[in-house]
Amino acid sequence: MAEKAVLQVGDQSIELPIIEGVEGERAIDITSLRSETGLITYDPSMGNTGVCQSEITFIDGDKGILRYRGIPIEQFTQSPNFVEVVWLLIFGRLPKLDEITPFSELFTSNALLHEGLRLQYNDIPKDAPPMAILSATLNSLSYYHQELLSIEDSKSFMQAAARLLSKVRTMAAFAYRRSLGLPFIYPDPQLRYCANFLHMMFSQPYQQFEVTQEIEDALNLVFILHADHEQNCSTSTVRMVGSSQANLFASCAAGVCALWGPLHGGANVKVIEMLEGIHSGGIKPKECIRMAKDKEEGFRLYGFGHRVYKNFDPRARVLKEACDKVLAQLQVNDPLLDIARELEELALEDSYFVDRKLYPNVDFYSGIVLRALGIPTNMFTVCFSIGRMPGWIAQWKEQHDNPNSRIQRPRQVYMGPKENNYVPIHKR
Ligand code: CMC
Repeated sequence: MAEKAVLQVGDQSIELPIIEGVEGERAIDITSLRSETGLITYDPSMGNTGVCQSEITFIDGDKGILRYRGIPIEQFTQSPNFVEVVWLLIFGRLPKLDEITPFSELFTSNALLHEGLRLQYNDIPKDAPPMAILSATLNSLSYYHQELLSIEDSKSFMQAAARLLSKVRTMAAFAYRRSLGLPFIYPDPQLRYCANFLHMMFSQPYQQFEVTQEIEDALNLVFILHADHEQNCSTSTVRMVGSSQANLFASCAAGVCALWGPLHGGANVKVIEMLEGIHSGGIKPKECIRMAKDKEEGFRLYGFGHRVYKNFDPRARVLKEACDKVLAQLQVNDPLLDIARELEELALEDSYFVDRKLYPNVDFYSGIVLRALGIPTNMFTVCFSIGRMPGWIAQWKEQHDNPNSRIQRPRQVYMGPKENNYVPIHKR
């Protein structure tokens, strides 16, 4: 017999089904709760709430496991190919050779921006935050590609997804070039996904940037490790916006806005600022740990802690190893890596962090890898967005394809004034 939870409220007792995921996680299905009892659940910040059933990504936060469509992320580290992972996440299985080739070709043919959109960059202030530029330009795909606002079939979905995945690189690189007052470098159809992004970032009209295999592999790895992370803040935002049947471009632009915050994707910038502060002698690592523990300071050890992981974030483990390898290959000696290691050691021995199960997360080491590749700090969260794009698209599609999807509409417990009377302005 299927297991049930029994809820007793006063004299009323109701049975609620328990659903079980394929990895054994159990959830009380409360969909009938309000209609049967008039009650709702209260779960601020949704730490205990499952909002969907998903087949895309599995995380076991206690064991430090992350799998894409069942495949542990560590298995993508040997010969990293981001576009394969994109396909896997979106379509549910690894692509065959005759599938990946036309898919990659779609990226090539969609890499350019509409001329109108390219000209828009001229009106953007030079010091505009690249994340603001990225969300705005992604959203503007909604008026340049209006034929894709409603996804009618798999062909139109593929067109919309390819546009997003391909153009996000171009938009990101153009935002960077604009901030430096440099001419835009157009995509090169001969180059693969990551190499093309680096080319648009760093080539000059008179000189091609040389992308070595090491650099390309490192960027592929960074993108892969960021590709999906189940129902995090930005992905939930994409699903929330998409649940109103808003189009894919608008939903993903909203995801970029959510990712921007320092508690989410923006943490990779904060980590480097913190490490730079320590390096320049502004603060000592021990002082940094003390400040992070003192609630009065309002300071967090950025790159540490996670809502789901109560163990090492497996992405941080991979990136820590990658740091050593990439820095050695590129012959970069970054003192921030030593400082990061020292901070990690101090935190992992400190009862404050141990008791709260605060471990390094993906952002702790990602910035050091990106710095070694020459990516400037203000582009770190933009790189996170490029990496996360397939996850957002896969999650949007899963929701869109589900015939039982309804608009997401949380409830609240009202604590404001009781019924009151309007007082005309001259009598107040
Ligand atoms: N430094 C100091 N204390 C911390 C930290 C930290 N980085 N993270 C959590 N804590 C403390 C927090 O103050 C609280 O203490 P207490 O129980 O005494 O009140 C306890 O640990 C639990 O923290 P929480 O804020 O309730 O945890 P949360 O699940 O709401 O927040 C988090 C998760 C990631 C926002 C948080 O750990 C944090 O702010 N970390 C720093 C920012 C960061 O690195 N974010 C990137 C997350 S990974 C990339 C991504 O997917 O976005």
